[in-house]
Amino acid sequence: MNLTKDNITAVILAAGQGTRMKSSQPKVLHEILGRPMSAYLLDTLKEVGVNDIVVVVGHQAEAVKEALKDHGVRFVIQEPQLGTGHAVQVAMPAVPASAATVMVLCGDAPLISGASVAALQRLHAGANAAVTVQTIELPDGAHYGRVVRDESGRVVAVVQAKDSKDRPDLLAIREINTGAYCFDAAFLVDGLMKIPKSPVTGEIYLTDLIHIARQQGRGVEALIDPDWEALLGINSRAELAGATRTVKRRINARHMDQGVSLMDPEATYIESFVTIGKDTVIYPNVYLQGKTVIGENCRIEASVKIVDSVLEHDVYVKMGCVITQSRVGSGVDIGPFAHLRPLSDLRQGVHVGNFVEVKKSVLHEGVKAGHLTYLGDADVGAGTNVGAGTITCNYDGEKKHATVIGEGAFIGSNTALVAPVTVGAGAYVGAGSTITEDVPPGKLGIARARQVNLQRRLVGKKKE
Ligand code: UD1
Ligand code: MG
Repeated sequence: MNLTKDNITAVILAAGQGTRMKSSQPKVLHEILGRPMSAYLLDTLKEVGVNDIVVVVGHQAEAVKEALKDHGVRFVIQEPQLGTGHAVQVAMPAVPASAATVMVLCGDAPLISGASVAALQRLHAGANAAVTVQTIELPDGAHYGRVVRDESGRVVAVVQAKDSKDRPDLLAIREINTGAYCFDAAFLVDGLMKIPKSPVTGEIYLTDLIHIARQQGRGVEALIDPDWEALLGINSRAELAGATRTVKRRINARHMDQGVSLMDPEATYIESFVTIGKDTVIYPNVYLQGKTVIGENCRIEASVKIVDSVLEHDVYVKMGCVITQSRVGSGVDIGPFAHLRPLSDLRQGVHVGNFVEVKKSVLHEGVKAGHLTYLGDADVGAGTNVGAGTITCNYDGEKKHATVIGEGAFIGSNTALVAPVTVGAGAYVGAGSTITEDVPPGKLGIARARQVNLQRRLVGKKKE
């Protein structure tokens, strides 16, 4: 499946506003699992070797260009946006003269698979057609363009639903145009000049080229693609939700194939670039995002969100944790309800329990922080035990300061460590201390008022 040698230029239509999204954001930038929808289309084209790509932008052009700038595509501006045919007219000067085939795709139908792209091109090249249109069959053609065939089954036109309000016979057609086409480049250059404006909307429709090709006695082919779910255009929030479901299923199926258990794949949200090792088990309502890497044999319980983080092997993340830009070593267990904020580095065998927050801190091998703790800007030595309610007071209102705790130390419960401060290796801190000065290695630091037990003053009846 490689189209590199076929002299193809792809033109992607992405200039429209997407009125039906009811959004201040351009439609093609609406996200599907963390990426602009059109990025999926650009990836697929690269995957099948279509490398020469022109993207037509218009509505909020700068935002669209910025979002797609790393994809190695050329941009042309369509201003104003007078329809899909007009968009391709505007793109043509950016299409090299050497292109034999121009593939037109819609930025709002981004989930076409590499196999579908290749199938369309194969049919087109084999039939030597002027235009080959991709179609799908739906129970209800809704707002999509209808594919009109003659008695012998040949495609003669594509008509728009909004132009056919008084034609129930056309609206009844269930075969619809997906908006993906291959054109013979020479036919396209000539045909684009001949498209009339729609009498209903005033737009210049690319789909009119099908009718024009027929009139010229040129070959028109249509490929009915069975992968209808992936090929539906996204024009509304409901269709965006449908596309998210499609991408989610694709990604989740890949992980399950590779030996990852998803307890409820419909309720597991894994973004494209996440990797997961085999025998890892993922419970429902888990979000794995960005460049997250998860090792083998991990267990991720329900309602966990992990962003741009690395978990090594045998990590156990209990219910309700949030982990962002952090590193978690093998055999670590976290939660329930723990929060690893950016630059947390938990080494092998660390235990972080419920209601513990860690930020920009290293917890060396075997550190235990079991309950209700905040460790920020801290370096905690191997094997140290951090008691319940320990807080690093790392912020003085202006700057952040470091807390350093040596190996094998013991921090008693309800301790405030006022940074900058160091607790030496093997030192003890008495429960309830507010530590403002360093505790030397091996010493016991206590910083709290000494308890006094006074004679009770008796009141009421007992008072004699
Ligand atoms: C279009 C097709 C319809 C097809 C449907 C599939 C036409 C006239 N209609 O309808 O037959 O069933 O796609 O989803 O082609 N765009 C521009 N410039 C413009 C207008 C649109 O770049 O001036 C872009 C849009 O950003 C979008 C794509 O072209 O990515 C399709 O436009 P849209 O308005 O969504 O057309 P549909 O009504 O969906
Ligand atoms: Mg559309």
